[in-house]
Amino acid sequence: MLPSIRRLHEIGYRLFATAGTSDFIQEHGIPCQYLETLNESGAKEQKSEYSLTQHLANNTIDLYINLPSNNRFRRPASYMSTGYQTRRLAVDYSIPLVTNVKCAKLLIEAMSKKINLEVSDVDFQSSHRTVVLPGLVNIASFVPGITKAKSSDFEEVTRASLASGFTMIRVLPVGLDESLTDARTITAAHISMKNKSHLDFNISVAATSDNAQQLGQVVSEVGSLFIPFNHLSGNINKVAAVASHFNIWPPVKPIVTDAKTTDLASILLLASLHSRPVHIHNVIHRHDIALIALSKEKGLQVTCDVSVYALFLSRADYPDDSHLPTLKDQKALWEHIDIIDCFSIGSLPYYVAHSAKQNPSPIVGIADTLPLLLTAVADGRLTLDDIIQRLHDNPIRIFDLHEQQESSLEVEVDRRFRVPSGPVWSAFAGKTLSGVVRRVMFNGQTVYLDGVITSQRGQGKDMSGMGPIPRPSTRDSASSASIVGPRRRMTVEHQLQSPFLRSADPVNSTYATASTMQHSGALMSIPPLIPGPSLAEMISHTPFYRKHIISVKQFDRNDLHLLFSIAQEMRIGVKRQGVLNLLQGRLICTMFFEPSTRTSSSFEAAMQRLGGKVVSVTASASSVTKGESLGDTIRTLACYSDAIVMRHPSADSAMIAASVSPVPIINGGNGSIEHPTQAFLDLFTIREELGTVNGLTITFVGDLKYGRTVHSLIRLMLHYHVNINLVSPSQLALPDEVKADLRGRIEFQEYSELSNEIVARTDVLYCTRVQQERFESNEEYERVKSCFVIDNRVLRVAKKSMIVMHPLPRNQEVSDEVDFDQVY
Ligand code: NCD
Repeated sequence: MLPSIRRLHEIGYRLFATAGTSDFIQEHGIPCQYLETLNESGAKEQKSEYSLTQHLANNTIDLYINLPSNNRFRRPASYMSTGYQTRRLAVDYSIPLVTNVKCAKLLIEAMSKKINLEVSDVDFQSSHRTVVLPGLVNIASFVPGITKAKSSDFEEVTRASLASGFTMIRVLPVGLDESLTDARTITAAHISMKNKSHLDFNISVAATSDNAQQLGQVVSEVGSLFIPFNHLSGNINKVAAVASHFNIWPPVKPIVTDAKTTDLASILLLASLHSRPVHIHNVIHRHDIALIALSKEKGLQVTCDVSVYALFLSRADYPDDSHLPTLKDQKALWEHIDIIDCFSIGSLPYYVAHSAKQNPSPIVGIADTLPLLLTAVADGRLTLDDIIQRLHDNPIRIFDLHEQQESSLEVEVDRRFRVPSGPVWSAFAGKTLSGVVRRVMFNGQTVYLDGVITSQRGQGKDMSGMGPIPRPSTRDSASSASIVGPRRRMTVEHQLQSPFLRSADPVNSTYATASTMQHSGALMSIPPLIPGPSLAEMISHTPFYRKHIISVKQFDRNDLHLLFSIAQEMRIGVKRQGVLNLLQGRLICTMFFEPSTRTSSSFEAAMQRLGGKVVSVTASASSVTKGESLGDTIRTLACYSDAIVMRHPSADSAMIAASVSPVPIINGGNGSIEHPTQAFLDLFTIREELGTVNGLTITFVGDLKYGRTVHSLIRLMLHYHVNINLVSPSQLALPDEVKADLRGRIEFQEYSELSNEIVARTDVLYCTRVQQERFESNEEYERVKSCFVIDNRVLRVAKKSMIVMHPLPRNQEVSDEVDFDQVY
């Protein structure tokens, strides 16, 4: 303590100390006044100048440092030391007291540096109950200036939401002056939101009476379709207009509406006719909640949310505000709390502020939300579980949102506080509520702690284009696929000539990318025998339609989502019907110049399941053995087919084939370069098995040099936030050109051993066969052929949820016993 005591003297403090301490300090040349400690009885009159008691009582001491002695034999119940009595006095007279030597030193250091020592109202050692909740989701976040590039509304909303415990929001597509209804407004919103968000978010598109036909352009950029009945001037009030939206919108993305009364009844009927789920936002009327309850009872796939303000404010508080429920309505909402799936914030607080003649801020109501609900918990009207379900579990499930990694909040649930009358208006200012958010974690980082936001703008991800995560049993959209809706009108050209018989564009030959989407859109039509409008619509929007599929590099994130949505739909359809008639009358040729079981049979099965036919040519029995060139072979096959699937040992085979083929070439593997369709299947499998790709640790093991499926899959990983481990002997390391594609874009580490530590943090263990046929010499192959063997011993340390994947064929790299170790 001596240096700290010297420091106190140097910065101008007058020091006092009791007997021994005072002598010690003075012996070291620091002036210090002796004070007498309390005597045993405390009765003896002390001369005030030398009395510690008097100094404390007269408040002439600014800081009292007293370190309790560590006498473990003392029985506190029967003995009260003088030290204790003086500390007690300091507390009674409100004199700052320090009882810990480290704290004393730090405090003196801080005082000497003139650090702001204002005492905050945070009780750092409180007895309040702290609970950890998962990061909350606001499914309806109102951003007034959503399309305005210069508006700070979005950043403010995301910042305030984060500080109030939300780590994900779904932005309402309805702004104050403008809504997101088409590609222009959605682009404007993207610009205004770019790099500004403090949390993950997604946007939706709003339906108008006449935008159904344009929605296809934006479907991959939004999370859902919102059908507003009460906002837009071009109000969507005709059932026919709403019906066309139901026809057009893909079943894998949710439909949300704020329909009320008779509009609500129409929407529920339409949803029922289309056998698709619908979510009702901002229910306020008692008849509406009763209708939703009844619909649920009858098995309709309907879910709903209620704005938290509507649960705690009514027209009894603001008689002129028609956005609020009446007291009777509010009572009904509480009575039906079990059928309310989500709580939301929505635009209600903003409009209430308006009715209260206050200047509405975009963030009004956000900070009130959780405390209002926790007050209801304290009052016994809700449980904590009710809140978690409605602000986390159900939103994630209903809107197919991604589960956020390491995002949570610590809340002192029973701590009461008075809502301040700050610059942001609150309908509850001056009222006492329960529940204080102390800490918010976002992606493993503390972004809010005791009133201080440390998050960076731009750290939140735009999840709009993520699309839903397919979950096999939650939605059965096959029935919607069988509804016959209005077909898109075909051009004469398309009626005369099937798109499948048109040649692939020979000039731009080959790659379909998102940038060619608009161009190819002009050539698209719905093939005649597609079973229903939803799948047809999805297919009609694929940029890879009628294009050669050579490399995964042709695909961006949106393409993948579209591909998976289509695959999901087809799978459900095939499961129900066995064969779909999507490709009736079409024929593909398959030609495998290398052996194959899984890939070749999957193409044949897919073609037949979609109603088409296959001619498979056996390379060893073909004219290739007579010296026919690859170009000639391809041109010959193209005469008889609508597309060609080819596997070939040479790296440039796929490109050569594409350059001469008038019909699309699908690459089933070109040398050790790529195997795009296997990689799509692998990615689809990961999503199916683990729910999401983001946040996973994926470990590739084995022959990473020649394993083409690895090269393709790893490149697809660039579209996700993943951590990659590459485990191989150095001779079989991932080729430099693939690594070059990864560098700076994705985290990856290389290892030559598969350690327990790697297995333990892995979510997907992707194993490959050592590709004997591609080695220069057999000795070389023999040296590495059994480099890694995955058996139950290796998997002992693995997470329960870890999956082992293998593109097949398997040799000894994955033991058979692994097939049977599943935890059911
Ligand atoms: C792989 C291939 O041929 O690239 N298998 C497959 O197509 N499913 C893997 C291999 O041959 O080891």
